Amino acid sequence: MHVYVYMYVCTLANQWVFFITYESKAKIFRHNQRAENNSLEEKEPRVEKLSDTRTDPLRNMTKSCLVFAINGERFELELSSMDPSTTLLDFLRIKTPFKSVKLGCGEGGCGACVVLLSKYDPVLDKVEDFTISSCLTLLCSINGGSITTSEGLGNSRLGFHPIHERFSGFHASQCGFCTPGMCVSLFSAILNAEKSNEKNHPPPPLGFSNLTSAEAEKAVSGNLCRCTGYRPIVDACKSFAIDVDIEDLGFNSFSRKGDSKEEILGRLPPYDHRSQICTFPEFLKNEIKIDMSSDPRKYRWSAPGNLGELQSLLESYNGESGVSMKLVAGNTSIGYYREEREKRYDKYIDIRHIPELTVIRGNEKGIELGAAVTISKAIEVLKTEQDSHNPSSNANILRQIASHMEKIANRFVRNSATIGGNLVMAQRKQFPSDLTTILLAVGTMVKIISRSSQERITLEEFLERPPLESSSVLSSLEIPFQDLTNNGSLERNKLLLFKTYRAAPRPLGNALSFLNAAFLAEISLNQNLDGIVVNHCCLAFGAYGTKRAKRAKKVEEFLSGKVISDEVLYEAIGLLKDYIVPDDGTRSPAYRSSLAVSFLFKFFSPLAQKIAELSNGLLNGSKNFLTETELEGKENGYHNPGPPKPAAFLSSAQQIIENHEHSPVGKGVVKAGACLQASGEAVYVDDIPSPENCLYGAFIYSTKPLARIKGIRFNQDSVPEGVLGIVTYKDIPKGGVNVGTKGFFASDHLFADGITRYVGDRIAFVIADTQKHANIAAKLVVIDYDTENLEPPILTVEDAVEKSSFFHIPPFMQFKPVGDVSKGMSEAEHKILGSEIRFGSQYFFYMETQTALAVPDEDNSMVVYSSTQNPEYVHRTVAACLGIPEHNVRVITRRVGGGFGGKALKSMPVAAACALAANKMQKPVRTYTDRKTDMIISGGRHPMKVTYGVGFKSDGKITALQIEVLINAGANEDISPLIPGAILCSLKKYDWGALSFDVKVCKTNVVSKTAMRAPGDVQGSYIAEAIIEHVASYLSMEVDLIRKVNFHTYESLRLYHDDSAGEFPEFTLPLIWEKVSESSSFRQRMKLVEEFNTANLWRKRGISRVPAVYGVAVRSTPGRVSILSDGSIAVEVAGIEIGQGLWTKVKQMTAYGLGLIKCGTSKELLDKIRVIQSDTLSIIQGTMTAGSTTSEASSEAVRICCNSLVERLLPVKNGLMDQTGGPVTWEMLVQEAYKQFINMSVSTMYNSDFATGQYLNYGAAVSEVEVNILTGETTILQTDIVYDCGKSLNPAVDLGQIEGAFVQGLGFFMFEEYITSPDGLMVSDSTWTYKIPTVDTIPRQFNVEILNSGHHKNRVLSSKASGEPPLLLAASVHCATRAAVKEARKQLMTWKGQDELDLSFDLPVPATMPVVKELCGLDIVERYLEWKMQQKLKT
Ligand SMILES: Cc1cc2nc3c(=O)[nH]c(=O)nc-3n(C[C@H](O)[C@H](O)[C@H](O)COP(=O)(O)OP(=O)(O)OC[C@H]3O[C@@H](n4cnc5c(N)ncnc54)[C@H](O)[C@@H]3O)c2cc1C
Ligand code: FES
Ligand code: FES
Repeated sequence: MHVYVYMYVCTLANQWVFFITYESKAKIFRHNQRAENNSLEEKEPRVEKLSDTRTDPLRNMTKSCLVFAINGERFELELSSMDPSTTLLDFLRIKTPFKSVKLGCGEGGCGACVVLLSKYDPVLDKVEDFTISSCLTLLCSINGGSITTSEGLGNSRLGFHPIHERFSGFHASQCGFCTPGMCVSLFSAILNAEKSNEKNHPPPPLGFSNLTSAEAEKAVSGNLCRCTGYRPIVDACKSFAIDVDIEDLGFNSFSRKGDSKEEILGRLPPYDHRSQICTFPEFLKNEIKIDMSSDPRKYRWSAPGNLGELQSLLESYNGESGVSMKLVAGNTSIGYYREEREKRYDKYIDIRHIPELTVIRGNEKGIELGAAVTISKAIEVLKTEQDSHNPSSNANILRQIASHMEKIANRFVRNSATIGGNLVMAQRKQFPSDLTTILLAVGTMVKIISRSSQERITLEEFLERPPLESSSVLSSLEIPFQDLTNNGSLERNKLLLFKTYRAAPRPLGNALSFLNAAFLAEISLNQNLDGIVVNHCCLAFGAYGTKRAKRAKKVEEFLSGKVISDEVLYEAIGLLKDYIVPDDGTRSPAYRSSLAVSFLFKFFSPLAQKIAELSNGLLNGSKNFLTETELEGKENGYHNPGPPKPAAFLSSAQQIIENHEHSPVGKGVVKAGACLQASGEAVYVDDIPSPENCLYGAFIYSTKPLARIKGIRFNQDSVPEGVLGIVTYKDIPKGGVNVGTKGFFASDHLFADGITRYVGDRIAFVIADTQKHANIAAKLVVIDYDTENLEPPILTVEDAVEKSSFFHIPPFMQFKPVGDVSKGMSEAEHKILGSEIRFGSQYFFYMETQTALAVPDEDNSMVVYSSTQNPEYVHRTVAACLGIPEHNVRVITRRVGGGFGGKALKSMPVAAACALAANKMQKPVRTYTDRKTDMIISGGRHPMKVTYGVGFKSDGKITALQIEVLINAGANEDISPLIPGAILCSLKKYDWGALSFDVKVCKTNVVSKTAMRAPGDVQGSYIAEAIIEHVASYLSMEVDLIRKVNFHTYESLRLYHDDSAGEFPEFTLPLIWEKVSESSSFRQRMKLVEEFNTANLWRKRGISRVPAVYGVAVRSTPGRVSILSDGSIAVEVAGIEIGQGLWTKVKQMTAYGLGLIKCGTSKELLDKIRVIQSDTLSIIQGTMTAGSTTSEASSEAVRICCNSLVERLLPVKNGLMDQTGGPVTWEMLVQEAYKQFINMSVSTMYNSDFATGQYLNYGAAVSEVEVNILTGETTILQTDIVYDCGKSLNPAVDLGQIEGAFVQGLGFFMFEEYITSPDGLMVSDSTWTYKIPTVDTIPRQFNVEILNSGHHKNRVLSSKASGEPPLLLAASVHCATRAAVKEARKQLMTWKGQDELDLSFDLPVPATMPVVKELCGLDIVERYLEWKMQQKLKT
């Protein structure tokens, strides 16, 4: 009889025991029980189409099936027809209606695809629930499991889950693409908190869960959001926390000013921890586990139940020639190894069901973990492990290992990633692992099974060996306990030190480290009792650009037996620097080496100083381990004054005024469709079900900057699987033109015709039967290039200048100088000339990549569903490309999963390629661009080089500024001629005396740059700050003073900005400037920062206040309002909902406009309004959603429509009043109007007046940062923003825009490195290398005040824009960082004994960790030790 083995462990005294229970396999599946799910309705069993076994699932329950549940529904798949490389994400999105699971990266790095996986343990009768990334999980591996997606938590039909409702009410969803993943991450955290705490804690009050605020913050730390800036997401999560003070949470729709706590709680969507969703349906519990062991070789996927089976499988596959085979554990490695994602093996062996590989065993010698134990499980075990023999030291070591492991990847990856998988990746493929380093330091052993032999070797030996053979298996690892005993009794006078380190861009993980390290040392007092001796130590380093984690043995040997002193440390560091040398080609090698020094110093230096304290402990035997706080004392300069770090570290405050004058306009109404977005039911382009016969395309792009295309072929003899054709410019039909972008200034081709002009240039579009096949095929394409007799490509702005390769700036955009610069310069007492600033690019990182679906229709017409900010131009492009009249094209856009300018022009070729392919194949064609391709072909923000000369007086007053800017626009014009104007406008935030501006828009052979949120403005604003900072350093004056001295008066503002300056009362910047100073206690905190810097050697703080001025123009836009016979209202605007809340503002305005007829309340009207998708044949002349003003313009358009409707309806109402004498309801009015054949639909074109439609936006921010000068890490302690929204149309939406824009700006200034190869290829092309801000990198205290700046006749109900301008304020963080770095440099100069302080340095953008550290001094530790040694000599 076959038996199932279930294993679990418990601890008996100090001995771990594992139990094996046996269960007969002969459980027969009897009935498909309904899930015990109070929010899930009874569902029919779903038999997946592939299996073609649509009859009784009972009968079909054979050994050859996979059985699992999704949202309570049963799925059964024939194993024989399965492609085992199918991911869960692919299955969910393609084969089920559950579209809440989004593809954001396919790498495990974004969280958009997160689902809950529940597993049932029949022995313990226990369900385990955890999140996983469905993009990495192979479908076969969830056999017997149950999946819950966001729509499974609740939905529009059955009622939303309180998580959805709170996300909505806390305004935590903008474009909504990340939201379902966020909701599932939070749900899992709540569920597990309920489980883990239910026994230990009293039940939480109703409405709350057992989750703590700190856990709530961490719940979503692995999920990316590009829109919100995270603050509202964290608040939504914290609203479930047991320890939250609900009044402390940010602006939300549940609380109103002056509400009591009870009132707020009363409005909070109810959550009852007692009525949890059933995540594992009963019917599945009763089903037997699939047994594939009877003939595993029959299938491509097998899951052996014991070692013997595994070995026999390995042997047989190895015997078969040409059979490719893969061992699968969590399969998360495909997130890193792209090629693995597309590879198909003949055989897959799931190793997670083998007891020897899942063992968890402990005794007095150590702890053994099976290789298939997940990282999460290992953390859980190591955290709770107690070694009764040697209680403090080993338990502490294990806890530190566990806490380091919590920074590996993110929770949803750790939940399936195994420790063995990690070690094998490191061993076989040199993966920059954390695990190997930390395990190496504690002397870990590993067990390997090769064919029929088994061996036990050290991890170090394992790492040094040649790559593990594919037929070998790592079965387990053993972490030995450190022995501090002598003949069984604890040795006095010996102490163990253990510490692990990692320096990475994100403190909570989800980022590979630049270097990691783990040190273990045994120390004791020396004989004279006046020093601490290192008896022996183990120093492991890894991930720094070395093939494997290594021990610095020379340093270990050197330190052994030495008394720790500054001199000894200095020498050890010298040895270490020779050893930690990254391999050639590693980025920031010197930085990585310096980290090794920093960590070694951090570990050992307290020993040179804490002798008294340590010796007491050692002598009286009270210690045999040092905690982190004991290791890092004030004397050593690590001490961080102030209250201890709170458990939850994010907090915020908002000051917001809701306007009631035009209600519901002015209220913080929740975003239209937010709950739908949270549950994942909101439909994005790729969620539209594929029409029958739909084909899929993938771009083939150039890898050469300038070359002739000689041929396109596949790198294999046969056509790759599923490929049906390749579309190139040659497929453009007669009458059509090769156009992919109909721009404002010029058009651009769709496909390179004979010559490619940049890396990323579209060459062709490969068409296949699935997106996966198309993507694989695109990578198999080889382009034959020829560069003979071609000029070298122009890759830099310098090249462009040399070759005079520029785009023309139209005359009306030419810049006129302000004042007389020569005169200004001659009046100057000081001059700085020829200074340079350089900016790189920034990638949009919208969560939804470029996508379109084109469906051929009758009579040579084409319907295109496009994720675009510019349907009108997509429409024109498609028509021109196909050579058909524009009335034959219809472009439909419902919502866009984030745009940020990247879907303004760059969406056009995507739609055009689909349309062209659909035209050629006469079938629907769609594409969803993979993240890498998107990053390479979409361009981004404009890189530029700026040179300036500035003249100023001794009091800091600037008299003249000369600026030269070279903008790298790339190969096509796009919107680049607009950039100079934008730079200039924000640059003019100060009164420069006189200003001259020379700008060139360079045409180069790199991918064309486009309008990314605040295009040009963000650079212009920063240039201004950099100049101010430079002047301040030159004069050694306070920067804030120089800012003040050069502030505009109203008169100078008018001189610089003409009419956009508006009238005097509109110039709110001086008021904002003072307000932000007051609200942030700027002056007081400047003093505190000074004190902090004096008291701390290794951490420096900086604080900075920065203003922003941002010009916008309201553009003309159409709108239509139609009232239907039941009183419901359909609104059409050309503006696209890209997450910025346009629909919400439009709805509010419609309710206000129609409310003027006074038949029912505006709230009642609001509920009747639906803004419908944009359709270019329904509303024409839509132009582009960009420039921050589309919401207000669209709102104005519908207001005009409403006015006309009210005018038409008023006589009807009066007539009814006369007839009935009583009040007239909305429904009565509409019915009567229909009877009278009143035209109930009005469309209009709102024409803005260009002169009055331009205005300036103002804001200011104060940011304070703390820089760890040993690692270069910058923590943003606090940001305070005051921003003028005029009379905000919707303060909730505007607040979201302010915070979101600021955090995106933070990415530009601090984190996002857009790295290109010399040819211009973007190489930071994944979530591994391109790091947008995460929840752990935003300001810890984030305060925003929306200034309500009163009435203005030229604006839409006196409102102002909020979408882009606040992005500029993130420069405050950069400036504060510069201030902190300046302090570090001052200190370094003292140590170096330099009297002359040159403090005018350039802090590049982005100021990443390596950049900051380099400026603080890569050799800062050595200089410090030298200085100390000299001081000693002097005394
Ligand atoms: C987004 C993300 C971020 C990450 N960040 C970090 C990080 O910061 N630090 C860090 O250290 N790691 C990081 N990782 C790596 C992660 O820890 C590994 O992907 C994971 O541990 C691999 O385990 P797995 O079970 O998924 O392996 P799999 O993907 O299943 O297997 C990996 C490879 O090892 C083979 N294999 C697996 N188990 C065995 C075995 N027992 N014997 C022989 N061969 C085996 C497989 O055949 C495969 O070739 C990250 C991963 C992701 C996806
Ligand atoms: S799509 Fe899976 S983590 Fe990004
Ligand atoms: S709302 Fe999070 S990515 Fe758009």
